[in-house]
Amino acid sequence: MKNILKSLGFKKNWVYEVIVTTEYNGIAHAAPMGVSSSDLRKILVSVYKSAETCRNISETGFFAVNFTNDMSLFYSSLHEKKKIKYIQPKGLVISVLGKADAFVEARVTSEKDADEKIIFTAEVIGFAKNGKRKIQLINRAESLALEALIKASKIKATKDSVKRKHLLDELRYIAFAASKTAPDSSHARMASKLSSLFRHQPKDTSL
Ligand SMILES: Cc1cc2nc3c(=O)[nH]c(=O)nc-3n(C[C@H](O)[C@H](O)[C@H](O)COP(=O)(O)O)c2cc1C
Repeated sequence: MKNILKSLGFKKNWVYEVIVTTEYNGIAHAAPMGVSSSDLRKILVSVYKSAETCRNISETGFFAVNFTNDMSLFYSSLHEKKKIKYIQPKGLVISVLGKADAFVEARVTSEKDADEKIIFTAEVIGFAKNGKRKIQLINRAESLALEALIKASKIKATKDSVKRKHLLDELRYIAFAASKTAPDSSHARMASKLSSLFRHQPKDTSL
């Protein structure tokens, strides 16, 4: 199978927000997850052991990655699971979301116990598009960089020490999240730079 992840625009170790579908005992299941790839060939998903998705992947060894930028689909896959319509495009084994734009099917090659989670590594075994829909990958770093800019300007504007501490904690978290979801990206660098503008201010006490 040609390098699907590369042609979709995956960047190494960036995390993409998707909806993972699985099947267990003939019942399809959907849940939002973050996926990544360290070599643009294998795909990784790290799933809480408490999730139904984790049980399904462990039991069957398969999952499908559904690409969509429709937030209502993310919402439904968390809170309105019964409303979800599944389809089975030609060549795919697992049911996927009728409203998603494209699908990657994956077969688990190894799994690693990581405390509360299991990290599944999988090989890509199938790909399908849903008609002519545009495929847009969702990575959080751009929104995080924007959020960091907003937090930093609020920190500068306020004199209230409690508010400043709260904003600074949020800014630090945002910088951390950006570096996790898009390592070595300009967005992560920007968030980190903004956070370090205020680094001389104490972490745990009111500023
Ligand atoms: C955008 C987004 C990304 C998520 N990524 C993950 C993830 O990578 N791993 C995980 O275990 N849960 C993740 N979650 C939380 C799961 O979707 C949530 O726990 C879900 O209830 C698990 O569903 P299940 O028990 O039906 O499988 C994410 C949630 C959202 C909204």
